[in-house]
Amino acid sequence: MYLVIACSLKSSSRSKILAEAAHRSFTSLGKPAELISLRDYPLPFCDAEQAYADPNVAILAEKILKAEGILLACPIYNYGVNSALKNLIELTGRNWQEKVIGFLCAAGGQGSYMSIMGLANSLMLDFRCLILPKFVYATGDAFDEARIADEGIEQRISELAHSLIRISHAVREDD
Ligand SMILES: Cc1cc2nc3c(=O)[nH]c(=O)nc-3n(C[C@H](O)[C@H](O)[C@H](O)COP(=O)(O)O)c2cc1C
Repeated sequence: MYLVIACSLKSSSRSKILAEAAHRSFTSLGKPAELISLRDYPLPFCDAEQAYADPNVAILAEKILKAEGILLACPIYNYGVNSALKNLIELTGRNWQEKVIGFLCAAGGQGSYMSIMGLANSLMLDFRCLILPKFVYATGDAFDEARIADEGIEQRISELAHSLIRISHAVREDD
């Protein structure tokens, strides 16, 4: 099962729209995927102590551990991913080990294009994750209310889902 995590906590989220489109891509490629939103799993801040015992941490850790590959749909905040996503990774740590990961980002402007690199580097170095180098980065112009209005972005989302399936499969074959 592939996992798509919508990481924004906003009720009307553009990265969630990207996540939903990615989820549809998995379905049309005939691969089961689960779409979850961090809004549905409130988490405590990682204190490196008691927070690990929160029941939602265990639920999410299990989903991450079992995922064949993961797409992270996240907002760009302050030239990085939002803190809800970083907190999720702090709380679930080693469950990310050797996962293949792709990113779908919603941002306010083109200038923050490299904002996922900090997190991507840490996932690579801490947990030996394989990060798909071609990712989705969409600004407000790509949306018309709650739908994606840019065909290029739609195309790139289905390419990302396809790459995640292909690379995750290749990595498993190699085990
Ligand atoms: C606290 C905050 C910080 C932000 N920082 C950036 C930023 O550094 N670069 C950028 O391009 N957009 C920035 N934005 C704009 C968001 O990335 C944009 O609104 C995006 O659509 C958020 O994703 P969401 O709709 O899924 O919540 C910021 C927005 C907020 C609320």
